[in-house]
Amino acid sequence: MSEQTVYLEGAYIPLSEAKIPVMDHGLLYGDGIFEGIRAYGGRVFKLEEHMRRFQTAARAINLTLPLPIGEITEIVLETCRRNTIVDGYIRLVCTRGADGLGLFPKPGAHPPRLFCIAGQVALYSEEAYKRGLKVITSHLRRNKATIVNPQIKSLNYLNNIMANIEAHRYGADEALMLNEDGLVAECTGDNIFIIQDGVISTPPIWVGTLNGITRQAVIEIARSLGYTVQEVPFTHFDVLNADEAFLTGTAAEIIALTELDGQLIDSGVAGKITLELLDAFREYTKQSKNGAKI
Ligand SMILES: Cc1ncc(COP(=O)(O)O)c(C=O)c1O
Repeated sequence: MSEQTVYLEGAYIPLSEAKIPVMDHGLLYGDGIFEGIRAYGGRVFKLEEHMRRFQTAARAINLTLPLPIGEITEIVLETCRRNTIVDGYIRLVCTRGADGLGLFPKPGAHPPRLFCIAGQVALYSEEAYKRGLKVITSHLRRNKATIVNPQIKSLNYLNNIMANIEAHRYGADEALMLNEDGLVAECTGDNIFIIQDGVISTPPIWVGTLNGITRQAVIEIARSLGYTVQEVPFTHFDVLNADEAFLTGTAAEIIALTELDGQLIDSGVAGKITLELLDAFREYTKQSKNGAKI
C-alpha cells in the first residue's frame, strides 16, 4: 500500500514527512480546532455543514483561518483525491501556529497552521452495531459553556479523553457525560438519543453538547420517517428507563447504547427503531444531495 498523502500548510506531502514543530500552540496548549468528516461512495458527507462548524469554531476562539473557507473546502476534496478515497475518514485541523512557550499568541508569530489527513476509520465492528455499547457514567462533568463551550470542536479534548479512559478502565466502550446540573449532555465523542414510547429525545445544545452533524441528520431522518423528535433535557434515570438509547457521531454513525453502569437498557440489544434509523442513515449517506463530489 502506498503512503498516505497529507496536506500541510500549502503542500501535499507523504505522511512520514508531515511534521509539526514542538513550539506549535496546538501541541503545547491544545490551541486550535478540528473536524472529523466521513466520505461515502466518493462524496464528502455534509461537507458544507462541517465547514460552517469549522468556521464558527475558529471565530469562537479568535483564530483567523489561513485561507478562505472555499479554498479549505477544496483542500479537503483534493486530499481525498490524492488518497483515492471513496469511503473514508478525514481529519481537518487548524492550530494557532508556532507561537512559542508563552500563553499569549504574539501577533506576527507563525500564522495558523492548517492540515488535512484522509484515511480510513472503523470504530466499531458490525457485531457491535447489533449488540450495542456498554457505557458508564463518567465522574467528569462535560465542561460548561462558560468555560470552553462544548460547541467548539477545540483541540483540547482532555476532559473527553479522560472520561473515555475511565470507560475503558471499567471495561466499557464509552462514557456518558453529565453537565454540572446532572443533566445528560453527551458521550465523549458522540451525541446521545433515547426513545420512550416511540418518541425520540436528545438533549438541547444548551445543556452542553456539540451540535453533531450526525445528530442533525438523524433528527431530519427520524422526522421524515414520521417519528416525533424532541430536544429536551433528561437525566441518567431517563436513559436507564428508556426503551432504546443510541449514540451518534461521524465515526460511530448510529450505534445502540445497551448497557449503562452495569444495567441493561430494556432487553440489552440494539432496539428496532435504532436499527431502522441506522439503515435509513446508511441510505441517506448515499444520496448525492448530502455530500460533495470528490
Ligand atoms: C464531543 C462530541 N460530541 C458529539 C460528536 C458527534 O458529532 P458529529 O456527528 O458532528 O461527528 C463528536 C464527534 O465529532 C464529539 O467529539
